Amino acid sequence: MFVTFEGVDWSGKSTQAELLAGWLREQGRTVLATREPGGTLVGEAVRQVVLHGHDMTPWAEAALYAAARADHVEQAIRPALERGEDVVCDRYIDSSVAYQGVARGLGEAQVLALNLTVTRGLLPDRTFLVLLDPDEARRRGGREPDRIEREGDDFMRRVDAAYRSLAAESPGRIIALDGARPADEIAEEVREHILQLL
Ligand code: TYD
Repeated sequence: MFVTFEGVDWSGKSTQAELLAGWLREQGRTVLATREPGGTLVGEAVRQVVLHGHDMTPWAEAALYAAARADHVEQAIRPALERGEDVVCDRYIDSSVAYQGVARGLGEAQVLALNLTVTRGLLPDRTFLVLLDPDEARRRGGREPDRIEREGDDFMRRVDAAYRSLAAESPGRIIALDGARPADEIAEEVREHILQLL
């Protein structure tokens, strides 16, 4: 089973990804818990460049995220799925479609096509979208913002709107969750959805 978590920065999606991975392990399942950009040496190196490096053009940014993802899928995600393991990934293709395709204005279809090419069409079985009002998410943000987080409020509102329309376009795969609720309640809802897949 391949499950991803999505949401605006500071929505709480990383906490939910960790809680689900922990619970699946308690059920006796073997889980690869990973994140994007990252998950491989190349992916972590790209993470450094896109989040903490120089300014770059929007397509350079989209291509770097796609490069990291290509490596991550072939080196880590697909092999784990082929071994019969579960993969829980914090961010995946929907992040690129929302941030680069819509918020940066590169085009949803173009960014999706690039990412489907480099991953050889690998989409998650389920994607949990943790919805949180971008103003509330910003209030939660604590540490030093990275290059993307420094884009500001309008950018994050465009990302949030993009995610909501992606969820409406893929109701079978993307499950929207109310991120304003306590983390344990959200985790319970995630588990109920996952139990239907096991
Ligand atoms: P994330 O790991 O969620 O941030 P952190 O761990 O620092 O809280 O995501 C890193 C940033 O990269 C985030 O601002 C979203 C952005 N991003 C994209 O713009 N496109 C992508 O394809 C991915 C995977 C992330």
